[in-house]
Amino acid sequence: MNDSTASSFAASSGRDTEPPVGTAPVPMWLMVLPILLFFGGALYFDWTAAWFNPVVHAPFTSLKQIESLQPSTGGDRLLIRGKVVYEQVCALCHGVDGAGKPGQAPTFVGSEWVLTDNVGQLIRIPLQGLAGPITVKGQEWNLAMPAMGAALPDEDLAAVLTYMRNAWGNQAPPVTTEQVTATRNATKGRTQPWSAVELKAVQ
Ligand code: HEC
Repeated sequence: MNDSTASSFAASSGRDTEPPVGTAPVPMWLMVLPILLFFGGALYFDWTAAWFNPVVHAPFTSLKQIESLQPSTGGDRLLIRGKVVYEQVCALCHGVDGAGKPGQAPTFVGSEWVLTDNVGQLIRIPLQGLAGPITVKGQEWNLAMPAMGAALPDEDLAAVLTYMRNAWGNQAPPVTTEQVTATRNATKGRTQPWSAVELKAVQ
């Protein structure tokens, strides 16, 4: 701005001095606002971050730990159901711990008949029963197990066999309801218990 425009501005505004710089009080709302913001922020933090509560912020130590906190999957439900059926129906002879009982029934722990890939063979045992000589983990047995298939729905039989294949240190893929249904249909009409030799021939 040169002199002539400055003087013409002063003339047109009716003043020939700069506006004075004075002090004015800070408006009240401007003093209250930061307090409110801080307080609101603290409340929000409290709601969402739980004030560094160690339970909330504890790091997970493993993926397994996270999985254990997830809602049960279908597979878990099958195992839970299987345990119930097992303890009601099979444990009487084979033991709650699956270890069998001398003179009553052979073990399931590490049994080749339980862990077999040929699940059709395994499903037939509870469906129609088993009688005669059988070797389980190198031990000879020659008793008879009654049929219990008619009393068990396909889902329960699948659940109990899946449980037996994954309890007591056993580890084998689940037996599905479809596999049980298929085996039940394939053996319809059979009332005689199976022999170990016959089961070995099952494809
Ligand atoms: C009344 C007693 C009794 C009950 C209850 C019983 N079993 Fe058995 N189970 C036996 C006997 C005895 C044998 C051996 C039969 C033989 O010597 O031929 C056997 C053998 C087996 C075998 C093959 C051998 C092995 O140990 O792996 C399987 C598999 C089996 N049972 C599954 C079941 C299932 C599943 C149930 C429950 C749904 C069940 N059993 C309930 C008495 C029983």
